[in-house]
Amino acid sequence: MAEKNRQWCLKRRVEASELIGAQNFEFIETDIPAPADGQVLVRTLVLGTSPAQRGYVSDGRSMHEKLAVGAVMRGRGVAVVVESKHAAFKPGDVLTASVGWQDYSVHTPTESNMSIFNIAKITNATKPLSLHIGLLGGAGATAYFGLLDVGQAKAGDTVVVSAAAGGIGSLAGQIAKLNGCRVIGICGSDAKAQWITRDLKMDGAINYKTENVEARLKELCPQGVKVFFDNVGGAVLEAVLNNLATRARIAICGFISTDYAIGQQSGLANYGNLVRNRARIEGFYIFDYIPRFAESEAKLRAWYEAGQISSCEDFDDGLERMPDTLASLFKGTNQGVKMNRVAPDP
Ligand SMILES: NC(=O)c1ccc[n+]([C@@H]2O[C@H](COP(=O)([O-])OP(=O)(O)OC[C@H]3O[C@@H](n4cnc5c(N)ncnc54)[C@H](OP(=O)(O)O)[C@@H]3O)[C@@H](O)[C@H]2O)c1
Repeated sequence: MAEKNRQWCLKRRVEASELIGAQNFEFIETDIPAPADGQVLVRTLVLGTSPAQRGYVSDGRSMHEKLAVGAVMRGRGVAVVVESKHAAFKPGDVLTASVGWQDYSVHTPTESNMSIFNIAKITNATKPLSLHIGLLGGAGATAYFGLLDVGQAKAGDTVVVSAAAGGIGSLAGQIAKLNGCRVIGICGSDAKAQWITRDLKMDGAINYKTENVEARLKELCPQGVKVFFDNVGGAVLEAVLNNLATRARIAICGFISTDYAIGQQSGLANYGNLVRNRARIEGFYIFDYIPRFAESEAKLRAWYEAGQISSCEDFDDGLERMPDTLASLFKGTNQGVKMNRVAPDP
């Protein structure tokens, strides 16, 4: 056990035009907390990332509770129990929880908070344990339900995925392929375009930074886009709205280009195309799918164990790099599910 607990605490809120980074946090050392009766002390192994974390520490709109200045940055991760004063846990047990950006944290598992998006004991651990917050965790579930439940993707559909080389996008594109769809991925570099077509077997790719997305969609989707899994919104969504198939379904997973990123927000000028194409657009929130989480985990696990889906993990090593790990989502330097390995798997 390290002698001290390293923590990233919020120093000041992220400004509207600012790229989140180490300047917003303070890296401090405190004593390792001691668990009281009914509590567990855990050691963080892996920390996940989500663009939504920027919303915790900015003044902008967010569905999540704001973090107070001085508090440890909130974030989900995989952790191992090092000391337990709780009957249901023993040292060596692994769990997923909101452990925060720190080496050690104390938790109080109760009947009501022991769920997959709170404190969840991992009973069927699969190595690497990072899978439990990636493919087999929230990222996989978001891709799975967004595509198949909200987007209603079916064999033969032409599916377009934005941020297709990102965490959720890379999984959504693969799930669409496994369901017999034709998949076009939109992403921000030629290297990513090559990765999603060569390694992830998507049928085509568009680099939105160098190509005319609307024109390329016309070429690649001559019958129109039947399902759009959107992670970015903004200009990319507008381009897809101009290329819809009749009765298209648009699943809005995220909108990083308009809500979290630097720059001005704009409305959609061409939403009338939803009427012309009898199309449906629907936002979704993964927390609503908690009751069905076992379904996505079982399906994704089966594909993973059969070697049919890649977990697409993209790691930084070391808690000290965590602000940069999160910033990579906004810079577009991540490829796949971005995580930070704080300590090796036990
Ligand atoms: N609905 C839900 O319940 C739910 C749950 C979790 C996450 N989400 C959302 O899902 C989306 C994906 O999350 P993730 O964690 O997997 O992140 P991610 O896709 O791995 O990372 C974000 C990616 O977005 C792209 N990007 C960044 N700024 C952009 C911009 N201005 N315009 C266009 N693309 C931009 C970058 O890729 P490029 O190189 O391609 O630009 C970057 O890699 C996010 O919008 C997130 O908020 C939704």
